[in-house]
Amino acid sequence: MTTTETERATAPATYVGKPVDRVDGRAKVTGEARFAAEHHYPDLAHAALVHAAVARARITAIDTAAARAVPGVIDVLTHENAPAMKPPPKFSPLDLSTFVSATSVNYLATDEVHWNGQPVAVVVAETPEAARHAATLVRPVYQELPAVLDFAAEEPNAVPQKGNLLQESEADKGDAEAALKTAPVTVDLRFTTPPYHHNALEPHATTAVWDGDRLTVHEGTQNIAWLRKHLATRFGVPERGVRVLAPYVGGGFGGKAMVWAGTLLAVLAARAVGRPVRLALSRAAVYHTVGGRTPSTQRVALGADADGRLTAIVHTSVSRTGRIGGMPEPVTAATRHLYAAPNIHLRQHVVELDLLANTAMRAPGEAIGTFAIESAMDELAWELGLDPVELRLRNEPERNPVDGKRFSRRLLREAYALGAERFGWRDRDPRAGATRDGRWLVGMGVATAYHPTLMLPANVSVRLGADGRVVVRCGLQEMGMGAATVQAQIAADELGVPLESVRVEYGDSSLPDAPGAGGSVQTASIAGGVVAACDKLKRMVRRLGRGAPGTYAEILARAGRDHVTAEVKANMPVFMIRTLLERRRLVKAACGVHFCEVRVDRDTGEIRVSRWLGVFDVGRIVNAKTAASQLRGGIVMGLGMALSEETLVDPRTGRIMNPSLADYHVPVHADVPHIDVHYLDEPDPTMPLGLVGIGEVSIAGVAAAVANAVRHATGVRVLDLPITLDKVL
Ligand code: MOS
Repeated sequence: MTTTETERATAPATYVGKPVDRVDGRAKVTGEARFAAEHHYPDLAHAALVHAAVARARITAIDTAAARAVPGVIDVLTHENAPAMKPPPKFSPLDLSTFVSATSVNYLATDEVHWNGQPVAVVVAETPEAARHAATLVRPVYQELPAVLDFAAEEPNAVPQKGNLLQESEADKGDAEAALKTAPVTVDLRFTTPPYHHNALEPHATTAVWDGDRLTVHEGTQNIAWLRKHLATRFGVPERGVRVLAPYVGGGFGGKAMVWAGTLLAVLAARAVGRPVRLALSRAAVYHTVGGRTPSTQRVALGADADGRLTAIVHTSVSRTGRIGGMPEPVTAATRHLYAAPNIHLRQHVVELDLLANTAMRAPGEAIGTFAIESAMDELAWELGLDPVELRLRNEPERNPVDGKRFSRRLLREAYALGAERFGWRDRDPRAGATRDGRWLVGMGVATAYHPTLMLPANVSVRLGADGRVVVRCGLQEMGMGAATVQAQIAADELGVPLESVRVEYGDSSLPDAPGAGGSVQTASIAGGVVAACDKLKRMVRRLGRGAPGTYAEILARAGRDHVTAEVKANMPVFMIRTLLERRRLVKAACGVHFCEVRVDRDTGEIRVSRWLGVFDVGRIVNAKTAASQLRGGIVMGLGMALSEETLVDPRTGRIMNPSLADYHVPVHADVPHIDVHYLDEPDPTMPLGLVGIGEVSIAGVAAAVANAVRHATGVRVLDLPITLDKVL
């Protein structure tokens, strides 16, 4: 396999590597693209949610009379009258689709309230306005129960975090605490990161249509096949009768990977009223019903000798999940792979609170974990009086630090060298607060990005028509990152046909099953399927041609065939065994380096990011344009995390206090400088076509690069995100 992938990856390509425009671009910019809330059906009704206003309670009564009296209201569903759903399946490694049960709550089947914001009723009306207005008139009566809500207060009660089948996060090598005590130079820092929420451009929306036992759902999902299976299970109908359509998804960063209340309640409402129902969540409803990123407290302690060689790394974390579910995030995972040291101690703890379950958000774990480790490395460089780039190079490992496994490839040295050169790193004055431009204090910071590489098997079919047209069919998810475009490029090159003759059909559960678009797995996973299907197709055509020369069209014509179709099907158990075996000897990842320049107003503390450069070691690039955009997008999201985003949860009531884009500040254009992106374009010899997932890596390290630049500009080390002006004054 190794030779084949390397050979393939280095073979001349016509389309792979080129900055091809997205095949869905025109539909998006012209408004032709129909998103989940834009499908019209005759008789379409509209739903709105009623959210619990307390954190933990039983509902003793629920008054819906005023809501029912609103003109246009069709029905109000509560736990007293809603049709039953089956409970959500618990996670089982034998059926990975169970992963999408975002919470353990069976909505509207119980009088229990588990978090402030939980849906306790659904109003269905002729118009969205009537539904939303009536929803404000539903009056639940609560018997409140004690709730545990304060993350900071509960931290001492944290329990060890459970492991994760595919990603190790903890380590014990040598005796790190003892080594810290004897190290000539140390830092020992405590970091906090706040909760963050999902703010995709398209808020979650569902249009649900029943026809007897058959169900069609338009949904902006990252996980078409598993959503279909989940809906079939919950509503007790055959899976083959459920169709999920998601040709366009307006951004998905983990928040559309699981199945949340809105989706289920739209389908339930449609069944209850016997009409198609659309439930388009308000931005606030997304905050109340879709999980976000865990907050964390982290300790990083580093010991080094006088030359800056690490002797000890300690990284521990406390994060939170909901009592009703959530995902323990691998906060210390990246630290298993970043730096060589003889003594390493990594531990994760978690607290369960009476809040909505947390969920995946772009590089869950690594995004916040790298803030701590990469800030601590920078502070160690100050202690040592050493250039932070040089400190990293001195500790760059040849093999995986905790267990000596080989890296499939790792070009961090090259990334640092190229980045430092292009950014002008050597020209900086290393002293803190020494560089000024009028009222601005100017600083530069650097940090490493890291995200593990995973893939899953995909089913793909490729059809070659006698007219030369090629159709690639795969139920992949297109969230705007060019997922369909890159597979068209790959198929065109594999078959040696013009890109214009290739069409990719995607975003539909009636197509061959693809893995979800999460964990940065999609591109390489589908590429593996596309390459295998194209190989099979070429063999089939060769057999048809019986060795005689000719174009595809000529061979098909001579054989009297209208088309040839090749299909490949994933063998999940075999794949999983291979993956786990490979993991025993090999570490593979996407990585990179961020260089950041900030300007801090010496009087007001205002922080502006003025320059950014990233260099990424992310395998072979399929599309130079969409890859650069994807990497830039992660950096922009990281800037929000670093400087302005923060979900404010009232620790007394569990209520989210800033559930809107007016109060939760994501970066706008004026906050984002030009982002210079480079990649090393070196194929990974163990991955299909040498590809490595790039969806998540670039957010990792961003917050640290900003914090490190602020430290250089001002002399102030900020340990608590976001880095707001009050913290640097
Ligand atoms: Mo991603 S956080 O795996 O969508």
